[in-house]
Amino acid sequence: MASIKTGLMGTLLLASSLSGAQSQSYSTRGGMVVSDSKTASDVGAEILRKGGNAVDAAVATGLALAVTFPSAGNIGGGGFMVVRMADGETVAIDYREMAPGKAFREMYLDESEDVIPGKSTVGRWAAGVPGTVAGFWEAHQRYGSLPWKDVVEPAVRIAADGYVVSAGRASVLRSRADRFKPFADSYRVFCRDGDFYEAGERLKQPELAATLSRIRDQGRDGFYKGETARLFAEDAKKHGGPFTIADFDNYVAKVRTPLKGTYKGYYIVTMPPPSSGGAALIQMLNMLEVRPTGRYGPSSPLYVNRLVEVMKRAFADRAAHMGDPDYNDLPVDNIIDKGYAAELAAGISVFATPSSEIKAGVFPPKEGRNTTHYSVVDSAGNAVSNTYTLNTGYGALVIAEGTGVLLNNEMDDFTSKPGVANTYGLIQGEANSIAPGKRPLSSMTPTIVVKDGSLFMVTGSPGGPTIINTVLHSILNVVEHDMTIQEAVAFPRFHHQWMPDSVEWGPGALSKETRETMALLGQETYPTEYGLGSCHAILIGPNGRRWAGVDPRVSSSGASGSD
Ligand code: DON
Repeated sequence: MASIKTGLMGTLLLASSLSGAQSQSYSTRGGMVVSDSKTASDVGAEILRKGGNAVDAAVATGLALAVTFPSAGNIGGGGFMVVRMADGETVAIDYREMAPGKAFREMYLDESEDVIPGKSTVGRWAAGVPGTVAGFWEAHQRYGSLPWKDVVEPAVRIAADGYVVSAGRASVLRSRADRFKPFADSYRVFCRDGDFYEAGERLKQPELAATLSRIRDQGRDGFYKGETARLFAEDAKKHGGPFTIADFDNYVAKVRTPLKGTYKGYYIVTMPPPSSGGAALIQMLNMLEVRPTGRYGPSSPLYVNRLVEVMKRAFADRAAHMGDPDYNDLPVDNIIDKGYAAELAAGISVFATPSSEIKAGVFPPKEGRNTTHYSVVDSAGNAVSNTYTLNTGYGALVIAEGTGVLLNNEMDDFTSKPGVANTYGLIQGEANSIAPGKRPLSSMTPTIVVKDGSLFMVTGSPGGPTIINTVLHSILNVVEHDMTIQEAVAFPRFHHQWMPDSVEWGPGALSKETRETMALLGQETYPTEYGLGSCHAILIGPNGRRWAGVDPRVSSSGASGSD
């Protein structure tokens, strides 16, 4: 067992391996923040103690993660936030990156119309216009209770004073040196120009601190206008990249109505497109309502098989139909329709249906591997579920000169070419093709579960397409398998995304016996060394106590409470 200090709140025990779930959990009566970085959770808890609400704490935690968890925490990327206030009001904030004005449909293809390897994943051309600062600003403008300056200040402080590099981070930074090297600012900040950080040293980010100070003092304009926007545009001009001042000026976070579904009396509040996650989650839960799994154990072949069949069907629709709702008329209502789920579920048998035989639904036209998730609940019962990302670890690997800001490589989430898999092996469709101003399709699934009108669970995860299934597992583990929230997030996971037609299973997820039975049922399986996601969740107990689900797959993760 490893132990993580939770400050005022004592010690949280975490399993050091993924082979078994364990039930030890941290709980509090006040507010709580659970994230991939204990330091960032502490920042959020400090804001709650100062009288801030869940949204204030979510913004402060997100900005702190941009400093302390640089592989995924960001202000150079984007994401999605689902908020549920204590009075039941819900909102989804879409701060997904946007294709820059110079983007075009075939921008990642060569003359033979083949995808150019790496162009959508590394370097300045891989980046979409960042949305994080606009999203946090929008959330704070709507619901924040403390002054903006107070919630930004902790991140400025940690960037300027530095944070202590862990052994894990030191080794990851060293191992990525060759990839950072072509990008001068990244190599200087993360690899100290070859004089690598050792565990225990402080990593300071003065340019990032300066950018964060402008955000603190000028709000969203401190990022999208003036000095910061100018630095991004100049960086693009000097080193070759798409960004212009107009791209930053044009960026807006979009406030959307959350997608809502039900599962056996639980009320699911989740992210609508341009994430596919919420729709797929509701679609899968709908199928499982018709074809219940309750009597199967969470690792049994029949349970795994049932979930895999459900996953294949949802991901087939994702591939065919999903994209930016502002550029496509998406059949979301059809996809989350309970009648449609019943039709799909009727086709599920105990034997595998090959993915090649699973076709996306045909609907009538309608009339007219790095991300980070954190969950926050305050003492009044306001809740925030936030997943944001640079896409893969450290995004495009480029820090735009003088900004200290790592750029995302979210453009790879678009369809570079129909039928050709992206980094996550996802085959995607026309609805997700590239166009200036458009947002790439996502799988991020920040979700809030309500029971009997009261907040029940806040959940979400990183993991590319595996996110959707990780969120599904987290809900089913609690609702169907009576696990504690800590057991639910730690429990081994498996994933199917329609294509490739194979079940990916994380450490401990499928025993040899289960795999053999699965093979007899026609399911191909393959192991992954990754645990599949990092799910940080909060469950509200019957007496209102908040219980932390801290995913042990990320060693720096932790929960903090406000009382
Ligand atoms: O939006 C998406 O679906 C991806 N860009 C998320 C990437 C991700 O989760 C990587 N994390 N491990």
